[in-house]
Amino acid sequence: MRIHVVDHPLVAHKLTTLRDERTDSPTFRRLADELVTLLAYEATRDVRTEQVDISTPVAGTTGVRLSHPRPLVVPILRAGLGMLEGLVRLLPTAEVGFLGMIRDEETLEAKTYATRMPEDLSGRQVYVLDPMLATGGTLIAAIDLLIERGADDVTAVVLLASPEGVEAMELALAGKPVTVVTAAVDDHLNEQGYIVPGLGDAGDRLYGTA
Ligand code: URA
Repeated sequence: MRIHVVDHPLVAHKLTTLRDERTDSPTFRRLADELVTLLAYEATRDVRTEQVDISTPVAGTTGVRLSHPRPLVVPILRAGLGMLEGLVRLLPTAEVGFLGMIRDEETLEAKTYATRMPEDLSGRQVYVLDPMLATGGTLIAAIDLLIERGADDVTAVVLLASPEGVEAMELALAGKPVTVVTAAVDDHLNEQGYIVPGLGDAGDRLYGTA
């Protein structure tokens, strides 16, 4: 597993406003969307392409286009939905699947309650979206499922990560074809499972249920 922390002033600027408790839901949604697009630019650095011959108004030339099979983008419900548009904006040919996972607030373990994606992901590149890599439980369960279905290249795009979550993923997914792309790795995870300093509950802040 590889981790890539995107070091860019625009990423840091948007993340700071997302963290700020005074930022309201509409602004949070817009900034999360913009931040995902910046992260997606880095996350898709190795997206597969194929050569294509085209003609400009002036001459024939060769270029590239996104290749088949199409990449699959999988937001983890509910908070990952707030990241979907930001990613598919850069990958317009992508197919979208859905994974419903919920964290048991007592055991902090991830449970799958809905799966809507192709059974066979052989040879597919998959981008899995979840704003917060906290304990790592949800993402590890999601990525295990994707790899079991045959995905041979999985990139997790997260807004924020905890060092504990990164370590758990490195242990669970060692040697697997997995990359994590994030705007920052924060200080620690608290006893309630929140990333510190973090940004609070990403789902609540996206959907105004705080
Ligand atoms: N999920 C969140 O929404 N926030 C955290 O800090 C941790 C998990």
